[in-house]
Amino acid sequence: MNSENEQKKFNAYPAVRMRRLRQSPALRAMMQETQLNAQDFIYPLFVRHGAGRTPIASMPGIAQLSVGESVREAEKAARLGIPALILFGLPAEKDPIGEENFAPDGIVQQAIKAIKAEFPHLVIITDVCLCEYTDHGHCGILNAGEFYRPELPEGYLLNEPTLEILAKVALSHARAGADIVAPSGMVDGMVAYIRQGLDSAGYENLPILSYAVKYASGFYGPFRDAAEGAPKFGDRASHQMDPANVREAIREAALDIAEGADMLMVKPALAYLDVIHKVHAEFPEMPLAAYNVSGEYAMVKAAAEKGWVDERRVVLETLTAIKRAGADLILTYHALDAARWLAEES
Ligand code: PBG
Repeated sequence: MNSENEQKKFNAYPAVRMRRLRQSPALRAMMQETQLNAQDFIYPLFVRHGAGRTPIASMPGIAQLSVGESVREAEKAARLGIPALILFGLPAEKDPIGEENFAPDGIVQQAIKAIKAEFPHLVIITDVCLCEYTDHGHCGILNAGEFYRPELPEGYLLNEPTLEILAKVALSHARAGADIVAPSGMVDGMVAYIRQGLDSAGYENLPILSYAVKYASGFYGPFRDAAEGAPKFGDRASHQMDPANVREAIREAALDIAEGADMLMVKPALAYLDVIHKVHAEFPEMPLAAYNVSGEYAMVKAAAEKGWVDERRVVLETLTAIKRAGADLILTYHALDAARWLAEES
């Protein structure tokens, strides 16, 4: 036999039988390449004024929460070993620039303080954007009124005036006690501007998690009900990325790293596993988060409600896939359930 045939014999059936290592639960556990843990999860909360909870129809199991209820939800996360929350705020009133976003007694600022008082070790991340706070539902200051620039289209999202507000919001969250700020508006220069604002106020140790690679996605539908932040007109295509693009994702990530981002995010997750993989491969030194967004959650919930998929299997499979693709951390509405299921399995 020549050596090529010899080689084949050992690299193929019947010498090779892949099923040997799948024979028992113990062997399968030993061979497992990706392990999902509760420590991987970041649990999103929607905080609003008033009392109690308002369920979100398109996101079964998720509700808008009062400050008190957000503390109760934080407690569940803490008990399950989930290390971090990300907070989204619904203001009492919306206006063109979103004043409550940087008010010392704004809803997110109140929630940070209340949660920190009870659970000082929980990491509180805040979403830094304008869309939940502006009356037009856009992620920044629009070309109108006092900011009007005739050379730009009416209603265009103005980059520099938006940066001013974003830096104010990040600083306000820092002062309220946030542990990490996460700018999500895809506005050019947001990381650098926020970094400079934080540093000059003495918050040079506060990390920035940048929504560096965020697509203009249909999967945010239920979130816009939850956060009441749907654009009243137009869309977000002038700042969020085209779902068709991936080379552009590398440019976005590289820019945010250069501006001082401590961690990167890809969003959404499930339809963008290739993007997660690519960003992780290009920047293996950067901590990477992926956002398993509202529409991804709603699809699983709806199919499970109809009995068409096994929710527990599909959720754990999905979250494992996101981690396998290269994410270190996963923002997910399934966090409490998934952490509970993982605890049962171990
Ligand atoms: C913007 C923001 C959005 C989401 C997180 N931050 C909405 C958007 O960009 O339109 C979506 C999250 C989700 O769908 O779960 N502040």
